Amino acid sequence: MNGLRSVLWLPLIGFVSLFWLTSEPAVDPDTSSHYQERYRPQYHFTPPQNWMNDPNGMVYFNGEYHLFYQYNPYGIRWGHMSWGHAVSTDLVHWQHLPVALEEDNGIMIFSGSAVIDRLNSSGFGKPAATPMVAVYTGHRRLSERRVRQDQRIAYSLDRGRQWTKYDGNPVIDERLSDFRDPKVFWHRETNRWIMAVALATRPAIRFYGSDDLKNWDPLSDFGPAGSAERLWECPELFRLPVDGDRSVQRWILQVDVNPGGPAGGSGAQYFIGHFDGERFYQDPDTRGKTLWVDHGADFYAVQSFNNMPESDERRIWIGWMNNWKYAESIPTDPWRGAMTIPREVGLISTEEGIRLVQNPVQELKRLRGEHHSYEDRVISPAGRKLPEFNGKAYEIIAEWEMGGSDRFGFKVRKGNDEQTVIGYDVMSRQLYLDRTKSGNVAFDSTFASIERAPMQAVNDRIRLHIFVDWSSVEVFGNRGEVAITDRIFPSPSSRQLELFSEGGEARVISMDLWKLESAW
Ligand code: FRU
Repeated sequence: MNGLRSVLWLPLIGFVSLFWLTSEPAVDPDTSSHYQERYRPQYHFTPPQNWMNDPNGMVYFNGEYHLFYQYNPYGIRWGHMSWGHAVSTDLVHWQHLPVALEEDNGIMIFSGSAVIDRLNSSGFGKPAATPMVAVYTGHRRLSERRVRQDQRIAYSLDRGRQWTKYDGNPVIDERLSDFRDPKVFWHRETNRWIMAVALATRPAIRFYGSDDLKNWDPLSDFGPAGSAERLWECPELFRLPVDGDRSVQRWILQVDVNPGGPAGGSGAQYFIGHFDGERFYQDPDTRGKTLWVDHGADFYAVQSFNNMPESDERRIWIGWMNNWKYAESIPTDPWRGAMTIPREVGLISTEEGIRLVQNPVQELKRLRGEHHSYEDRVISPAGRKLPEFNGKAYEIIAEWEMGGSDRFGFKVRKGNDEQTVIGYDVMSRQLYLDRTKSGNVAFDSTFASIERAPMQAVNDRIRLHIFVDWSSVEVFGNRGEVAITDRIFPSPSSRQLELFSEGGEARVISMDLWKLESAW
């Protein structure tokens, strides 16, 4: 009888456990369909509620892109740092999942990365369960005045849903207070794991090597170099072909600075060179220079996906679209913090040498809706309104010819007393973004700013690729060698778009404009 009963129960248990495994409770199933609050980004990643900063643990695995992030599950200010979690199959639409790694025993989970341990070097795996291993900084208070930061690991055997913290933690403890943000990846040539981690106050990046993700040997230090005013955080290290030619490669070491960024406060710089599995050698022609990843005020803590599919050679990264200067006072509610759009990174040769380029991933084209197209339009100092268009979230691709103009470009999110200006200054050869009248700028005295970036016109022409959302603007210039990313907080009624030229006429050779649908 008992036997029969359990046989009858089996299919039901099977069904229930299948349901249990496949159904994934969203943080709040309701919020995902809304995402309509004032300033709520429509196609940038934001958590439904609460505080978010750096992207963490970015890794692709079995059809899913994982985005973990610095998250306070309990409030809209920084604190109780844990790893929030979301997954996407297309980099555009994200599904929120429960918090992955939570603060416990007073140890906050700071930034870090994740790898797929295919060979089960860590021994965490089980037959048919490849471990996903997170490597993060543990942050704890030793006393009123002293903190300790060390490197820790945790693993998941079910695609990042449930996590176990390693009982041998910490895996690296140098008894330091500012030692954080491990980026780990598999280094083919030396057949081992490499970690780049910040000695934040030195400032320097230290490299470690490991065979099993548990035991780490120090290899070398890099820095200070470039911009090194105070703190270095969140290093990234990877290799890229130059001009798409795989026989010519360079390593990029990306390092965040705070303060000392291009617009003051937080910013992202990069170094070009070689990494031999032990040491990073900066290319001599770039020594003494500071190269910015993005010239905006709101680009920080960028991280790229580990373990991209074999068939996809892209290097894709996402940054935190914010600045520690005012991150805790930006006027959004009930969440605070947003990510940039995913960007594909490359290297090209320019007159100045090899430089980084960033461009929006092509997956974003899925959001394109209403389309307007223009050709060969002269823009005089009277300017040109586009009455046929009004919008809060859109994309523009335009080629301009400077003609006799001193300054030309777009006024986006324009309303009665508001506008955000994206322009090119012919004399100084600078791309600029002026958010001084962009809307709510009063919450911080440094927010009303103008960001500038050097950019050469080619045959008198420049190309602009622009993404406007309910509270941000991202501009990519020419082939993507210049990027400017800024948050803005315009009134919902500021929806006009205008073209302008000062001092003479400029010409729009071609322009495409798409409304972008919500990804939520
Ligand atoms: C960068 C950072 C990291 C740290 C995390 C804490 O924004 O300061 O260095 O791990 O944020 O939330």
